[in-house]
Amino acid sequence: MPARPRFIQDLKRTHSCGVLTAADIGKTVVLFGWVQNRRDHGGCVFIDLRDREGLTQVVFEPETDAEAHQLAGTLRLEYVVAVRGEVRSRGSQVNPRLPTGEIEVRATQLEVFNRAETPPFPIEDRIDTAEEKRLAHRYLDLRRAPLQKVLVIRHRMNQAARTYLSGRGFLELETPFLIRSTPGGARNFLVPSRQNPGKFYGLAESPQLFKQLYMVAGFDRYFQIVKCFRDEDLRGDRQPEFTQIDLEMSFIAEPDVFAIVEGLMAELFRVAKGKEISAPFPRLTYDEAMARYGVDKPDTRFGLPLCEVTDLVRAAGSGLPLLPQAVEQGGVVKLLCLPGGGGLSRTELDGLEGVAKSFGARGLARAKIGAGGEWTQSPLAKGASPEFRAAVGERARAGEGDVLLFQFGKPKIVNGVLGQLRTLLAKRLGLIPEGRDDLLWVVDFPLFEYSDEANAYVASHHPFTAPRPEDVAHLLSEPGRVKARAYDLVLNGNEIGGGSIRIHDSAVQAQVFRALGISDEEARAKFGFLLDALRFGAPPHGGIALGMDRLVMLLAGGESLRDVIPFPKTQRGTDLMTGAPGEVGHAQLDELHVAAVPVAGAAKDTG
Ligand code: AMO
Repeated sequence: MPARPRFIQDLKRTHSCGVLTAADIGKTVVLFGWVQNRRDHGGCVFIDLRDREGLTQVVFEPETDAEAHQLAGTLRLEYVVAVRGEVRSRGSQVNPRLPTGEIEVRATQLEVFNRAETPPFPIEDRIDTAEEKRLAHRYLDLRRAPLQKVLVIRHRMNQAARTYLSGRGFLELETPFLIRSTPGGARNFLVPSRQNPGKFYGLAESPQLFKQLYMVAGFDRYFQIVKCFRDEDLRGDRQPEFTQIDLEMSFIAEPDVFAIVEGLMAELFRVAKGKEISAPFPRLTYDEAMARYGVDKPDTRFGLPLCEVTDLVRAAGSGLPLLPQAVEQGGVVKLLCLPGGGGLSRTELDGLEGVAKSFGARGLARAKIGAGGEWTQSPLAKGASPEFRAAVGERARAGEGDVLLFQFGKPKIVNGVLGQLRTLLAKRLGLIPEGRDDLLWVVDFPLFEYSDEANAYVASHHPFTAPRPEDVAHLLSEPGRVKARAYDLVLNGNEIGGGSIRIHDSAVQAQVFRALGISDEEARAKFGFLLDALRFGAPPHGGIALGMDRLVMLLAGGESLRDVIPFPKTQRGTDLMTGAPGEVGHAQLDELHVAAVPVAGAAKDTG
């Protein structure tokens, strides 16, 4: 008997497991993949064979090939196998839910490449296994179709970004990860230098300075799809290492950056969602965003605007002592009007106070408007003067049955609380239209923001952002009023990008450092190379970085960045699969001239 052809050597894969249809009936095919399930029926063995493209039903009959049939009886979940056979119709057994549901492969040859232990969780689309367990066996989690789909979309988005940007004259150029650590921005991860005892590199939080230096070097248009490292407190939309689509351009102003990014976003929407989006995107100033939405990354897919009534309190008092008091102390009074109370019961409305407190509020004053304009359900009910009630009602366009939710005090807290409450209520009341995507630019950010912690002004974006030319004169005298040439890109209430026109004049850069309380010596020590570069013919330039992980999460679907990053870290920055970060031995530390201090009661990771 002639030797049977060998899989891989002689028999190459002819098709993936996701493509065979009725048009292929009669063909002899070779498929490789994993056993998704096995059923024994009327003397035959059926399996679904899976690869990244889909599932194909394979049937093993004793009369077709006794050896293959017998071996098929030993198959278990996740065995890796090769199958040769003939495509045939499933007749009346068509499975309309599968693209390959019209056919099956009648196997004439089977080989088991590898067996598998029973997986710790099922390799299925929807499972309720704890995330910790899935992360500990991420390679199995990644076998599941939803994750495979997301990563395919991620690949397409990467490719689309490269093609789009290269097509517009951008050069894909690399920048170092091991850089000098410069405290002030995001906290750097540190890497000890073996060759330079006692010295450390920082892992780059972004390519910011290097991309600017590319512009000084005359490269004109740069981009990179690049990892960034930030030792921050993590949330669902933050990872310690994440990816940016980073770009920089010379001889441009804001509209040039916007046009490039709008075109890029159109491509990304097309490849990720098959959706056309319209440009230009609306622009909103930072001040407008804060006034109307309480946040600098507003979700504009629904209404529920915040309404400020500070001036009404100031003009007429309110009859309520707390409000004028707050205003006198420099506070603001704002409210959210819930039409018809959002259909919420009184108990549900009461419950909002606890929610507001979790956002940092001291309380949540509420008033329900009655038939005659009176306020009920509220400690505000008694004191509020009729004039104040009428003026507030008119301002908020509120009428009978509507519920007003008030905050008063420091603008930061008032905006923060009402902004978050607005989003929460929209979700809870189902106000966000299905399938709608709102992209917008937020512009005219303040250049500096006052940090209560640092007791000083800090850069809102980063210290290389250009002030508006008309504000340069106020840099040192009134830093709080200086506006930046900075912009953020917002998608459905998420900050997906941020950038700015940069300072290309070393004198202005020095003034900005001074306004930030960075002495000339310190600036020289940290950023001397940049100040020097700006003196050697730096062109006007600017750019932006888009958060790739956030974009994939929003376009491909995912609750957290962990759903779209192949090998993510937990909230505590750990990798549950490899055990990173891990301890290292004394020898390794000695070599690095580093001593480890034991930490008592180091917390256990709970994901
Ligand atoms: P910025 O710090 O605003 O700007 O970052 C740009 C975008 O990156 C995303 N992002 C993150 N995504 C996941 N995890 C994180 N920890 C994280 N931090 C930021 C956000 C953000 O909008 N060098 C400047 C860009 C420039 O000025 O050109 C920069 O890095 O979506």
